[in-house]
Amino acid sequence: MEIYFAKVQEWLEVLKSKQPQVCDWIGIYYKESYLHKLDSTDLVLGPYLGEATEHTRISIDRGFCGMALREERTVNVADVTTDSTHIACSLKTRSELVIPIKDKNGVYVAELDIDCNKLNAFTKELEEFFEKYVLSFPLLEEFIPLPDITFETDRLILRKIHPKDIQDIFDYAKNPNVARYVTWEPHQTLTDSKKLIDYALSSYLKGSLEPMALILKDDPAQKVFGTVGLIAASPKNRTYELAYAISEEHWGKGLVVEASKPLINYVFKNFAIERLQCRCEILNPQSARVMEKLGMEYEGTLKASMFIKGKARDMHMYSLVRSDFRPYL
Ligand SMILES: CC(C)(COP(=O)(O)OP(=O)(O)OC[C@H]1O[C@@H](n2cnc3c(N)ncnc32)[C@H](O)[C@@H]1OP(=O)(O)O)[C@@H](O)C(=O)NCCC(=O)NCCS
Repeated sequence: MEIYFAKVQEWLEVLKSKQPQVCDWIGIYYKESYLHKLDSTDLVLGPYLGEATEHTRISIDRGFCGMALREERTVNVADVTTDSTHIACSLKTRSELVIPIKDKNGVYVAELDIDCNKLNAFTKELEEFFEKYVLSFPLLEEFIPLPDITFETDRLILRKIHPKDIQDIFDYAKNPNVARYVTWEPHQTLTDSKKLIDYALSSYLKGSLEPMALILKDDPAQKVFGTVGLIAASPKNRTYELAYAISEEHWGKGLVVEASKPLINYVFKNFAIERLQCRCEILNPQSARVMEKLGMEYEGTLKASMFIKGKARDMHMYSLVRSDFRPYL
């Protein structure tokens, strides 16, 4: 949901930049039945830009806000004070435009709510502009879950983890050398590997590209020998984090760099991301080399910034920001 909301936030920002003079408060109310698959007729607030509002949940039966989805039509109110049931997101609001949003099947699932501090703000032209714009609204189903996606490089196949990979994961993750500088302990039993699989499956459900399994194309057994993933570190700030670990027998072959490139290309193309970051403990120069070879910039060392396995760790921080990013070939 975080990734999806970051996308909606981005959509709102672009929209506001096109008509800033009328967008004093702009946000999305969803049918709760759509957003949370709950048996409810309430509307719940999603991403918004403007003053914080206490109206995070409203009844579909109330105000102009409820009216747009109740009557499935655009509601353009020149003067909100004319209606005593009006529920403004801000006391300064004078006029309001609410446009219902359909899913791909034509079912109304959400609404765009725009509040303006001026009277009579929304002309017919503006109303038509916003009605046209909502056709590009990012729908929830377009982001969740992660599609069944695979990437191919010269030597590798990257795909989502399957429950059947459990033994392969255990085989490399039980090695204390592999687990030395990561947040997890070496796997003791298949139950530990099962936890990684459960984590992966729930992560894909949230649309996340993490972790992706690595397989050597020329391996007859097609064994999973590690993972590379991109975690949403702070969707609100459009920051993702790269993470990786592979079997010791494949270290030093440049495989993690090779695997990371198509994933990074993919997120910069498809996700609301401004910053990709990656951290490694100062004692792990192999990992720092991976980031350097990916063209990431060393930003500094954050002292005692991670508490891992009972100890505060000093971490090197690297980043790659959108303005510096050039797709890898
Ligand atoms: C860190 C890690 C991801 C590097 O991946 P990799 O595919 O082996 O990386 P590379 O082949 O590009 O090698 C990176 C550097 O490691 C060093 N290296 C190479 N072979 C090595 C080996 N057998 N043992 C130790 N270091 C080695 C080299 O300095 C190399 O840099 P160079 O190519 O400029 O010579 C991998 O070692 C690993 O999975 N480690 C365990 C998990 C981990 O620490 N994850 C990162 C947490 S931040």
